[in-house]
Amino acid sequence: MKIAVLVSGGGTNLQAIIDAVKERRLTGVSIEVVVSNKEDAFALTRAADNGIPGVCIRPKDYPDKDAYGNYLAGFLRDYEIDLVVLAGFLVVLPKNFIEAFAGKIINIHPSLIPSFCGDGYYGLRVHEAALRRGVKVTGATVHYVDEGTDTGPIIAQKAVYVEEGDTPETLQKRVMEQAEWVILPRAIQMIASSLESFRA
Ligand code: GAR
Repeated sequence: MKIAVLVSGGGTNLQAIIDAVKERRLTGVSIEVVVSNKEDAFALTRAADNGIPGVCIRPKDYPDKDAYGNYLAGFLRDYEIDLVVLAGFLVVLPKNFIEAFAGKIINIHPSLIPSFCGDGYYGLRVHEAALRRGVKVTGATVHYVDEGTDTGPIIAQKAVYVEEGDTPETLQKRVMEQAEWVILPRAIQMIASSLESFRA
C-alpha cells in the first residue's frame, strides 16, 4: 500500500511511521511522499534523512481552496497513493480533495473524540483544554476524514491518564508516547492488511 503523509510541524508521528516500517512492525506499506504546508517543518528534514521525497505545497500559493485541492489531489494521484495520512497536518482540506480521496484519508487527533475536537482544537490547545476541564483520562484517536472537522468514523483510540502537576507540554508528550505513536502505525497496518486481502 502506497501512502502519503501530510505534515505541518515536528513530524514525530511521521517518525513513528518511518520507524515502524524500518522495524517491520508495519509491513506492506511504503511512504511514497511527505507533503508539508510549511517550508521549515522539521518533518521535511525527517523525510530527507530517510530518503523519502518531501515537498512543500502551500494553500496560499493557489488562487482559492478549490485550486489548492485540485493540485494536491493530482499531485498525490501521480504517486498512485492508496492512503493519505494526516500526521499533525493543520490545514482543513477542501471538499474537492476529500471527495477525490473519499474513504482514503485518515487523521490522528490528540484526544478521545468527541472530547476536545473540532474547529480550534489542535496541537497544544487540545491539552490545554483537557487540563482546563480537569479530565483525569485523555488519549488519542485515529479516524477517517470526512467533510467535517474530526467528525469521520473512528478507527482506533487509546486512553492516557492525566497526572498530578501535568502541564500542556508534559501531557502532550505522554499522549504522543503512549497513544499517538502506537495507534497510528497500527491503524495504517490494519488498512494495509485489509487492502492486501481484498486485492489477493
Ligand atoms: C500531534 O499531537 C497530532 O496529534 C496533532 O498535532 C501534533 C503534531 O505533532 N494534531 C492535531 O492536533 C490535529 N487536529 P507531530 O508533528 O510531532 O506529529
